[in-house]
Formats: sequence, C-alpha cells, structure tokens
Amino acid sequence: MMAKVETKEEGISPEPVEIKKTKKSKKKTTTSEKPFLETITGIGPTTRQRLETAGYGSREAIALATRAQLTEISGIAEKTAALLIREARVQFDLGLKKGTDYEEAAKTRVKLTTGSKAFDKLIGGGFETGSVTEVAGENGCGKTQIAHQLAVNCVKYLDQDVIWIDSEGTFRFNRIVQMAEALDIDPDTVLSRITVGRAYNSEHQMALTEEALTMVPNIGLIIVDSLMSHFRSEFAGRGTLAERQQLIGKYLAFIAKQAEIMNCVGVVTNQVSAKPEAMFFGDPNKPVGGNIVGHTVTTRIFIRKGKAVKRTASLTKSPELPDGKIEFAITTEGVRDFTSK
Ligand code: GTP
Ligand code: MG
Repeated sequence: MMAKVETKEEGISPEPVEIKKTKKSKKKTTTSEKPFLETITGIGPTTRQRLETAGYGSREAIALATRAQLTEISGIAEKTAALLIREARVQFDLGLKKGTDYEEAAKTRVKLTTGSKAFDKLIGGGFETGSVTEVAGENGCGKTQIAHQLAVNCVKYLDQDVIWIDSEGTFRFNRIVQMAEALDIDPDTVLSRITVGRAYNSEHQMALTEEALTMVPNIGLIIVDSLMSHFRSEFAGRGTLAERQQLIGKYLAFIAKQAEIMNCVGVVTNQVSAKPEAMFFGDPNKPVGGNIVGHTVTTRIFIRKGKAVKRTASLTKSPELPDGKIEFAITTEGVRDFTSK
C-alpha cells in the first residue's frame, strides 16, 4: 500500500539528526549547527563567500564536487579544494557501497500514485522516490496538471511535504483545492504542505531549489515546473549552449542526488519543441535540453493530448521497465483512468 516506510539512509540524512557515523566523524554534525564552511578552519570569509557564490555553500554541494570544479573558483587552491572535499565527504558519508546496500535502498523506495491505475502500471506502480522522473510533452498536454495531482497525492498518501519550483507562474492553488476535495482531504492542509518557489530566472531557480531543499523538513516530492524555460530564454544561441548545458547538468544532478539522499520523488517537466531550439539537436520531436537531460533523469515519460480529457502517456526511459504507452484522463478532479463513456 501507500504507507511510507522508514526512508532515511543512516548517516546521510539531511534531517537535523546526529550523524551516526564512525570513529572518524569527530563531532556531532547537524544541519542546524554552523554552516559547513564555517566549520572548516583555514577558510576565511572571502573564500567562503566565493564558494557560496559559485554554489558550493553546503556540505552536500562540496561533497559532490570535483577538485577541478572548486579550483576553477578564483582563490581556491588545489590543496584547499582537496581538504574541503575530503572533509565534506567524511561528514556526508559518501562512499563505496555493496550490491546489498542497493538492495536495502531499493526496499525503502516508495511509489507515489498518479491517480490513474493504468498510468501507475505503466511506470511500475507510480512515481518512484529516490530519483528524478521527467514529464515531457507539448504545450497544454497536462504536465502541470500531473504535477498538481502528484502534490496532492504526496500529502494524502505519503503524508509528506512538497517543494514546487515554479518557473512559469503556473502553480494554481484552486486546482489543488479541486483535486484535494475530490480525494476527501482538507485543501488547506494540502496547501499548507506545499512550498512554492516562484523562480524569475535560472539563477533564481537554482538558488530557490537549494534553499527549499534545506528549509522544508519532510520532503516527499520536489517538482520543477518547468526545468528549461528560463535556461532556454536566457541562453539563446549556439554560443552559450555549452555553458547552458553545463549548468543544467549540474542543476539536475543536484536534484537527482537530493532525491536519492532524501528518498523523495523528483519530477521535472519539460517541453517538446519543434523550433527553434530543437534544430540544434537535430530532432524536432525531442524534449528540449538535449542529451544532458535525457541522461540525467532516471525515468522519462511523454504526455500527448487527445480529444477532450483523453491523454496518452508513453514510458520511453526506465532502468527496469519496458517502454509502453497507456491512456489516461485529466478531468476537473485531476488525473484519472480514461473511460470512454
Ligand atoms: P505547458 O506548461 O504550456 O507546456 O503545458 P502543460 O503540459 O503544463 O499543460 P497543463 O498541465 O497546464 O494542461 C492544461 C490543460 O489541462 C488544459 O488545456 C485542459 O485541457 C486541462 N485542464 C486544466 N484544468 C482543467 C480542469 O479543471 N478540468 C479539466 N477537465 N481539464 C483541465
Ligand atoms: Mg505547464
């Protein structure tokens, strides 16, 4: 059923708990303590500032960084980078795992229902915690509707909080109310458990995501709707494409890592566009963002609009499920099975 089992992996939980690790982790580490960079002696305020500005303010970001990335920041020497990464990784408990660890982690994964049995079946029971699923499709196909439904379902079935990074201004509280009422759950309870970050540009989007992930206590779902809109408009033209792809890759990898650590569902929506940008990638039927998006997300679903409430969902990338296609419906109540009356 939907009851959420204990999800946090010991020692790498972002929750403000003591890290139960090891002989070597000298002190209690809690996220409510001093920020990571302030715990490192030998790092002055200027260096700290530079690291923060470059997006490496947190223990997690540094633990996942490479030396080359840190030394690109002016004033960060190789030695400092190595020290920071080593310390962050000790605290963060990044390490090698056994196959059995994966088996254990898999047991903690939970499926978040879409509201449609057919849709759930297509994707192995629902949107999975621990990784990022991309929902792609044309304008008006229903990506944002699906996101609203997942938010309501997260509160109802997982009893966890939602982060919604809204880059297009399309979060609608009244759709949440309608969908919550349809499921007999108090709409205000649901609304109070959704933290919406309205992102006005790509920098803001990345900063909001990071902030929300540290602020919200009990995250079951993080939605980025949509992933690419700011990146597309800000980085127009071939000249800036490489830079843009690098940023998107970093941003998505960050979300993926957080989804894994927190064992929450990651969802990014993405448009399919015939032009002008898709021309760069040679295939007008692909979601925007190029290979970097397709490679980084674990699961990819395409939505297509049919007549009236009818929609189709196609699974085109999954690490363990065959591709497939089903019909479902988007109604006033939300995502449901499609029934031809
Ligand atoms: P973009 O963000 O523009 O790429 O589109 P999207 O894929 O996010 O589309 P969105 O989820 O906003 O879907 C909009 C469509 O959902 C509308 O055109 C309607 O078909 C449907 N929809 C939205 N609200 C309702 C509703 O209250 N009842 C019904 N039946 N359908 C709705
Ligand atoms: Mg939308």
